[in-house]
Amino acid sequence: YFHILYFPLVHTEMCLFTAQCCFMDCQLYQFHYINESKTWTEAQQYCRENHTDLVTVTNMKDMKRLINISAGDQSEAWIGLYDQTLGNRTWRWSLPGVEFNESETNWYNGEPKDGRNCAHMLLKVKWLSIDCSFPSYFLCYNGKLKQKSWLEAQSYCRENHTDLISGTKQLQDEEVKMMMNSADFEKVFIGLFRDTWRWSDGSSFSFRHWNLKFDNHIINSAMNWHEALTYCRENHHDLVTITNMDDQRSVQQEAQFASTPFVWIGLRFNCSRNVWFWVCDNWTWNEQNDCNMFGAMQAGGEHRWFQRNGSERFNFICSKY
Ligand SMILES: *[C@@H]1O[C@H](CO)[C@@H](O)[C@H](O)[C@H]1NC(C)=O
Ligand SMILES: *[C@@H]1O[C@H](CO)[C@@H](O)[C@H](O)[C@H]1NC(C)=O
Ligand SMILES: *[C@@H]1O[C@H](CO)[C@@H](O)[C@H](O)[C@H]1NC(C)=O
Ligand SMILES: *[C@@H]1O[C@H](CO)[C@@H](O)[C@H](O)[C@H]1NC(C)=O
Ligand SMILES: *[C@@H]1O[C@H](CO)[C@@H](O)[C@H](O)[C@H]1NC(C)=O
Ligand SMILES: *[C@@H]1O[C@H](CO)[C@@H](O)[C@H](O)[C@H]1NC(C)=O
Ligand SMILES: *[C@@H]1O[C@H](CO)[C@@H](O)[C@H](O)[C@H]1NC(C)=O
Ligand SMILES: *[C@@H]1O[C@H](CO)[C@@H](O)[C@H](O)[C@H]1NC(C)=O
Ligand SMILES: *[C@@H]1O[C@H](CO)[C@@H](O)[C@H](O)[C@H]1NC(C)=O
Repeated sequence: YFHILYFPLVHTEMCLFTAQCCFMDCQLYQFHYINESKTWTEAQQYCRENHTDLVTVTNMKDMKRLINISAGDQSEAWIGLYDQTLGNRTWRWSLPGVEFNESETNWYNGEPKDGRNCAHMLLKVKWLSIDCSFPSYFLCYNGKLKQKSWLEAQSYCRENHTDLISGTKQLQDEEVKMMMNSADFEKVFIGLFRDTWRWSDGSSFSFRHWNLKFDNHIINSAMNWHEALTYCRENHHDLVTITNMDDQRSVQQEAQFASTPFVWIGLRFNCSRNVWFWVCDNWTWNEQNDCNMFGAMQAGGEHRWFQRNGSERFNFICSKY
């Protein structure tokens, strides 16, 4: 239960029906905030009955206006974005207003691959799908090349430039081509991603603004706890640590994609001291005194934590790079 929810009041009917007008800069949406505690579904019903719908956030300008309105003691509010867990992932461009057009794609043979939800450009031409959390060079529109995860790259581009490079028009831009030609690496991120999230009002806006702090990531291979720890440390950051409800929600979100009944998290038991503890950056395994007892989260149901034998093989969740 969160305390605030937003909805757009249709200020003039034109806004809903004239998409051109709404795009990018239009300020016809008026946001209101309701100081009541409701579940997402209740909030949606409330907004639909009494106003229009839960809010759809279409760009950074909207985002800043929302943050301004929510000023006060509340840190969270529902918005109209929900996860269609069983739905298909849909490709979108990061830059608001750029439509994804299937017939203008330039995938390499056999691409995109299942489970890889961001895109790379190979040798300045062909597109490859890639795991969003792997660090890569990336292109901002009128921007620089650095090495970051896709979400970090998006955030960097939005703050310091316009956005990640989006749409075939930008990819063919002379300045962009020059920037790529002068670079000496084979692959760069482009602003293409796919997800299962949808807006409550049914609109297809691609705008997302995920909190980087919760960029946790499920690995769909079954490993024992120590293998999972090693994998996370080599490829990402660490096995995930859960210290508050925000972390818990973020991990639950990922856990539902598991193919095993539990997922490993970075929790383990020290038998000689009789304490549970979270593994952190510099914790190393001491084989003595190890009683092989670890924490795992249920992949479904109430997502409770259970004590499991570390030799069991489960999917697991890594924290971001
Ligand atoms: C929201 O309601 C609570 C009581 O239900 C009140 O304490 C708080 O000041 C209200 N916040 C705003 C911003 O109106
Ligand atoms: C609509 O607003 C009224 C008055 O605030 C409230 O009593 C009613 O429950 C709301 N509708 C829904 C579906 O929540
Ligand atoms: C935030 O609210 C203040 C006071 O209402 C206003 O002066 C300011 O322009 C707003 N900022 C944005 C980004 O909307
Ligand atoms: C997902 O895509 C498949 C194949 O394109 C289609 O048959 C199915 O109906 C889609 N499911 C949803 C929920 O859109
Ligand atoms: C998609 O791209 C093709 C080829 O450039 C073009 O003919 C078509 O009109 C585009 N579709 C949309 C919906 O823009
Ligand atoms: C914007 O660029 C500055 C300087 O390069 C950097 O310190 C900052 O982290 C960038 N912003 C984001 C959101 O990455
Ligand atoms: C290692 O862990 C200790 C205790 O948990 C901590 O004080 C120290 O800062 C850590 N060192 C590094 C390099 O992270
Ligand atoms: C348990 O704690 C003791 C004392 O801090 C330490 O020496 C030992 O290595 C720990 N065991 C495990 C499995 O972490
Ligand atoms: C953990 O599981 C392994 C293999 O399944 C088994 O050999 C071992 O005895 C178990 N350890 C404990 C403490 O249950």
